Amino acid sequence: MQAIINRKEIKIKKCDLDKQLLTFIREDLNLTGTKNGCNIGVCGACTVLINNEPQRSCKLKVSDIIDKELLTIEGMSENNDLHPLQKSFLDHDAVQCGFCTPGMVLTAHALLLKNNNPTEAEVRDAIKINLCRCTGYQQIVDSIISAKRFYK
Ligand code: FES
Ligand code: FES
Repeated sequence: MQAIINRKEIKIKKCDLDKQLLTFIREDLNLTGTKNGCNIGVCGACTVLINNEPQRSCKLKVSDIIDKELLTIEGMSENNDLHPLQKSFLDHDAVQCGFCTPGMVLTAHALLLKNNNPTEAEVRDAIKINLCRCTGYQQIVDSIISAKRFYK
């Protein structure tokens, strides 16, 4: 059994199949960019992409990624360089405490892969699954709209 995790093929052990996906990502893979906010499927801090769809990893099991592609925030950067969407978040001051940011970036990435010219309303609709207690959302929306030129 295997899954593609951040573009690498990873073997999955049978004994891990029933584990919570969030725990597996953070504790077994040591990819701690995926955050545990509420652990009950409400806040979106644990968002990852599975086959390019945003999913709450606290509500899933490892068995849900078998033969699928999992992307965590660590997989967004390549060659130690931040992805342009991540740079856009920094450029627009869309990061304050940063706790929501990994999930927010991944949700925005999924949107822009599907729709590289979203309206502000479409951006707001997409990110409604990710709660942010700090920014007031406008800087986040601006950073996503500004990054759309990097998606073709
Ligand atoms: S930690 Fe999963 S939705 Fe909050
Ligand atoms: S930046 Fe603090 S929760 Fe979003």
